[in-house]
Amino acid sequence: MSVRNIVTLGNETLRKKSKPVVDFDESLGTLLDDMKQTMIEKNGMGISAVQVGVLRRALIAEKEDGDFLEVINPTILETKGKVKKSEGCLSVPGFYTEVERPEYVKIEAYDRHGNKFEYETEGYFARCICHEIDHLNGILFVDLTKAGQEYKKKKGVQ
Ligand code: CO
Repeated sequence: MSVRNIVTLGNETLRKKSKPVVDFDESLGTLLDDMKQTMIEKNGMGISAVQVGVLRRALIAEKEDGDFLEVINPTILETKGKVKKSEGCLSVPGFYTEVERPEYVKIEAYDRHGNKFEYETEGYFARCICHEIDHLNGILFVDLTKAGQEYKKKKGVQ
């Protein structure tokens, strides 16, 4: 396992739409292991493959109990409610803003071996998963609030 470089705001890779994972092979395992180590090293709560420069639909999120959930090719099946809470992102170091997210989310996805599963969660972890899924579509949390828009303008980045 190794720590990879984090792609940060202003790099256009973050704005690209990630492609589905097709091969559930050893290189996917290595990517996920590296993502996990990178996230731990940088004190993140979630990480998507695009943040280490790989445009594939894969993410890892850390549960409140310290367990990790690996999510490949996710589809959101259902959301409920709306909650506004503070968020940050490894790709936007030092900036936090309150973002509105679903209170509950249910997804369908695959694990690293290609097994399909459904997962539902609420609160913090629902927020975390929604934030990471946004990354797979080129969306950053700074796009979603006025303070985030101002931050981008101040930094002169898209
Ligand atoms: Co992020």
